[in-house]
Amino acid sequence: MSVKKQMAMNASKFIVNGGTPLKGEVVISGAKNSAVGIILATILCDEECVLNNVPNISDIQDEMEILEGMGAKITKIDDSSYKINTTGIKSFEVSDEAAHNMRASTYFMGTLLGRFKEAVVPAPGGCNLGDRPIDLHLKSFEQMGAKTSIDNGSVHLKADYFISSSIRFDQVSVGATINAMCAACKAGEGVKTEIDNAAKEPHVVDVANFLNSMGAKIRGAGTDKIKIMGVDYLHSTNYSIIPDQIEAGTFMVAAAATKGKVKICNVTTKHLETITEKLRQTGVFVDDSHDDYVIVDGSNRELKPCNIITLPHPGFPTDMQPQFSTLLTLANGASVVTDNIFSNRFKYVEQLRKMGAEITVTSSAAVINGHGFGSLKCANNVRAVDLRAGAAMVVAALSAKGETTIGDVFHIQRGYENIVDKLKNLGADIRVVYNDSPDNKQNCG
Ligand code: UD1
Repeated sequence: MSVKKQMAMNASKFIVNGGTPLKGEVVISGAKNSAVGIILATILCDEECVLNNVPNISDIQDEMEILEGMGAKITKIDDSSYKINTTGIKSFEVSDEAAHNMRASTYFMGTLLGRFKEAVVPAPGGCNLGDRPIDLHLKSFEQMGAKTSIDNGSVHLKADYFISSSIRFDQVSVGATINAMCAACKAGEGVKTEIDNAAKEPHVVDVANFLNSMGAKIRGAGTDKIKIMGVDYLHSTNYSIIPDQIEAGTFMVAAAATKGKVKICNVTTKHLETITEKLRQTGVFVDDSHDDYVIVDGSNRELKPCNIITLPHPGFPTDMQPQFSTLLTLANGASVVTDNIFSNRFKYVEQLRKMGAEITVTSSAAVINGHGFGSLKCANNVRAVDLRAGAAMVVAALSAKGETTIGDVFHIQRGYENIVDKLKNLGADIRVVYNDSPDNKQNCG
């Protein structure tokens, strides 16, 4: 069943009967944060693209629907591969409705500007993580020669022609780096763009590799200085998206939080170094001696507290902060977790408190007083307040004995392919309850 159809069935809750150690193997899907960029970057391609290892999640289905609505032709080859031909897209305007349904709509700015030299894209509003400013995106387009304005809630971008430029971001931004690369790679022969203080996240490199596979000339992605020679034409490609670092990290933490032992397959081990390092600091055993899988063994170990500061890659990813903080509630002692990247990243704390967590939040830091394994209690009314917060609630529910009901799981389904089946395969007792099911009135046992 497609993700869209599952969505139509309105999955509203997960019911988790926790306390069982996760055991076995899980296969990680393609990276959401790469895929949302790469799918929109197909707008830059002058021929047909084939994408493999595309995660089957609602954010991706939404993007594909919007592209089809704009004139793209998308054919499903198998569960994770698609042919995408965007040559039928004739308009550089994105509708309010389309952008509203899509978190990564900012990538329309760089991709439509690169293709049409013009773009009209609804400005992103605040979201669950707080304000999402786009000043760095606009600054980079301006330096490339585009005029930018915001009228009636939409961003207007127009470049009669692109000029060579040196862009220096005063803050590291994944989105602005990807957008600048997308516009610059198709800026035309002879137009050179340099980006300083570029984001180095694995998905920035993945988008660059995808663009290069079509004939773009991008060098240095993965370092803080990216150099791009513009081209006029991008040809067809057959490209595989990298494994999802955050999905892998979430399963690593879930294994540790249940004192389980899990082999996490189809990963890029190098991308997991920071998460591995932090897990080891808490006393969890991680075998990362292989390139494409890791084994996390949390059995027979008590957890030690540790401090975390989220930072741009290769620092600890903000997208792993809620899940890891949940694990730290099971440590013996106090940990301090600081997240300066997004203003609203501790909203899950209120939900975790319902399960007995002792956490104090002061602006961008949380002090977590961990009370050891088994200290989280089941609850019948916790919610996924955003994607990673939702993943944190799943981790909490898996560790807590008894039945926990997690609401608003559509947030989780935006970014985790088949999470319920993957967890069931690891021995978890988890099920989905649809809105109209009698089960939906279930209480916590
Ligand atoms: C991406 C990821 C998101 C991850 C984040 C940080 C995708 C689809 N999303 O989000 O999952 O949590 O990177 O690793 O890949 N900023 C500005 N001005 C701007 C742009 C950003 O001030 O013009 C600030 C943001 O408010 C934030 C910081 O820079 O504090 C980092 O944001 P950014 O890296 O741009 O995050 P996203 O690309 O939105």
